[in-house]
Amino acid sequence: MKITISEVGKYVGETVKIGAWLANKRSSGKIAFLQLRDGTGFIQGVVVKAEVEEEGFKLAKEMTQESSLFVTGEVREDDRAPSGYELTVTSVELIHEATDYPITPKEHGPEFLMDHRHLWLRSKRQHAVMKVRNEIIRATYEFFNEQGFVKVDPPILTGSSAEGTTNLFHTKYFDEDAYLSQSGQLYMEAAAMALGKVFSFGPTFRAEKSKTRRHLIEFWMIEPEMAFMDHEESLEVQEQYVSFVVQSVLANCKLELQALERDTSKLENVQAPFPRISYDDAIDMLKEEGHEIEWGEDFGAPHETAIAEKFDKPVFITNYPADIKAFYMKPVPGREEVVLCADLIAPEGYGEIIGGSQRIDDEELLKQRYDEHNLSLDAYQWYLDLRKYGSVPHSGFGLGLERTVAWLSGVEHVRETIPFPRLLNRLYP
Ligand code: 4AD
Ligand code: MG
Repeated sequence: MKITISEVGKYVGETVKIGAWLANKRSSGKIAFLQLRDGTGFIQGVVVKAEVEEEGFKLAKEMTQESSLFVTGEVREDDRAPSGYELTVTSVELIHEATDYPITPKEHGPEFLMDHRHLWLRSKRQHAVMKVRNEIIRATYEFFNEQGFVKVDPPILTGSSAEGTTNLFHTKYFDEDAYLSQSGQLYMEAAAMALGKVFSFGPTFRAEKSKTRRHLIEFWMIEPEMAFMDHEESLEVQEQYVSFVVQSVLANCKLELQALERDTSKLENVQAPFPRISYDDAIDMLKEEGHEIEWGEDFGAPHETAIAEKFDKPVFITNYPADIKAFYMKPVPGREEVVLCADLIAPEGYGEIIGGSQRIDDEELLKQRYDEHNLSLDAYQWYLDLRKYGSVPHSGFGLGLERTVAWLSGVEHVRETIPFPRLLNRLYP
């Protein structure tokens, strides 16, 4: 019976065959311990000289790291193994011998590992991060499908910019100019007017000259947009969504979080509702603590971390000054200098994971914003149309997948949270 490592629990006491790679190996005299991985999991294969053919034992002892093999053996329960199982090997069949695999069990520097990202992905830690990423995506679809949202796919090639023009990737679109999408939001607003509650999940591109542990050039965003929903209602969806994702990862990625040595006690408490603090109060608080920041300035990473440290859950910072936010955000009634928006700041210094707002629904005000931000009517007439034909209050937000993966996995840098990161100085592999 050919099975995967993830299935061994169903075959205790039986003889099974598994296709695997040799991740690591230990041997002494008459016994060899093979650390095997097959993508679905990890298991130790124990090869005892007296119990296999001579050729098989020799093979096991001499096999090189990352060689591929079919291994046959009996599944046994073992309390000491992280997965709870071990394989008593009865035969080993080499598929392909790997020579001089560059990533050895010793420590390597980050640049070396990044140059070998195509191989680094096989390591236990990277495997765990990718599984956490997958669980966040799975839980996202479950949550929004359950809540009656429709998945909509906005375009990647666009003629307009959603989040300002400074970090657009330019390309030619035959004779026209085009840009890679930096957010699907404007299109998702159109979709919400057609389908009510919608969400997108796709890649976005920002030519940001930032070289920080939180910035990628290409990253993936989940962008829900909801008709007939005000800002406060949107915050409730956000805290429920994030809580659901965190609890799903805790429930379904136990082995992965263990492999990552993640302190899960810090995640267990992440349940809605989340605290809210206004931008005004956040500024006062930072000033009291001696930070050099004035009302009207945007927060940097140290500011966000200082605010997040006050709470043991993610915290919403609400109502930022209009001047430091995007053109489409609706002003707070009676206080036009601030807008109905919030950034959700993750605990433990992982920074902003969500940006969201209520959108301007008044045609005249939006036109005024086009003037202030030099947006051409040619490119944006369609977006104005949404305010012309049955305009409604509507809100939405964008969750950055990689920052969420970094937070839940407890990894320091977003470069480990996406299979092939695009960074300021890196397009290879
Ligand atoms: O705050 P941002 O720029 O918001 C928007 O793009 C809105 N249009 C979303 C919406 O309302 N539909 O980006 C949203 C999130 C951030 O909170 C952050 O988590 C992530 O996207 N993000 C990045 N992640 C990695 N690398 C970058 N360069 C990122 N820029 C933003
Ligand atoms: Mg933002």
